Amino acid sequence: MTNRITWILGNWKQNHLNADAAECAEGVGAGLEAALANPVAGCPEVRVGYAPTYLALAAAAPFTRPATGAWLLAQDVAAQESGAFTGEIGVAMLKEAGVDAAIVGHSERRAYFGDTNALVASKVANALAHDLTVVLCVGESLEARDKGEHETTVITQLSESLAQVASSEMDARVIIAYEPVWAIGTGRTASPQQARDMHRAIRTHLRETYGDAGNDRSILYGGSVKPGNAAELLSAGDIDGFLIGGASLKAESFLAIAAAAAQTARPTA
Ligand code: PGA
Repeated sequence: MTNRITWILGNWKQNHLNADAAECAEGVGAGLEAALANPVAGCPEVRVGYAPTYLALAAAAPFTRPATGAWLLAQDVAAQESGAFTGEIGVAMLKEAGVDAAIVGHSERRAYFGDTNALVASKVANALAHDLTVVLCVGESLEARDKGEHETTVITQLSESLAQVASSEMDARVIIAYEPVWAIGTGRTASPQQARDMHRAIRTHLRETYGDAGNDRSILYGGSVKPGNAAELLSAGDIDGFLIGGASLKAESFLAIAAAAAQTARPTA
């Protein structure tokens, strides 16, 4: 049995001006130690982080590692190293801003900004080539789920988005987030069984493709996660944390989810 890291990650999306970003980051930093204190027996290591807008990274950075345990994330990253790519932000720029990891392939990027699996694959490859951790998002539409095509949709997204990742690169720098599109910002959460079943399918694919290195990756769930449903989801098994939108915008609710992660026993099977 592996001891995968549990990640509690916030995605602030296009929210929080600098003052609010600093307030939220400061609140998380101040409460983190207490939230993660005295974990339940057998609890995996819990790590916390959040992704402000690019412009609010500097406001949040003083409250992240090394000052606190919180990781600083970006919401995206360019597919190119540098050059004439108007509007893009490269890995070196993110690192200079203190960023530890980047979200890639979020469903809102895919739906509204044309991020295809091929583009996502280039972003993942560029990030890993320059040693930046990625949180790769996949998830099906309601239409795909209703047609019973959710698993094939997600596994296709996953394999195409990881197409440029060599076996030697499949390590702790790769985190997967399963976020069914119909559960994002809708208040409608996937049932613990729906989430667990998809996580198992993702893990099987990763194991078959990358062996133990694939099997050991953390797979997060995202979509209307709140303090009230976090423990139930984690108890289902095979869910190694969360990517959280709405409930990450306030330190209090975000920390409550982190605390739930530290206090929820995971099934051993
Ligand atoms: P939500 O967003 O928690 O507001 O549903 C999740 C996400 O998009 O990562």
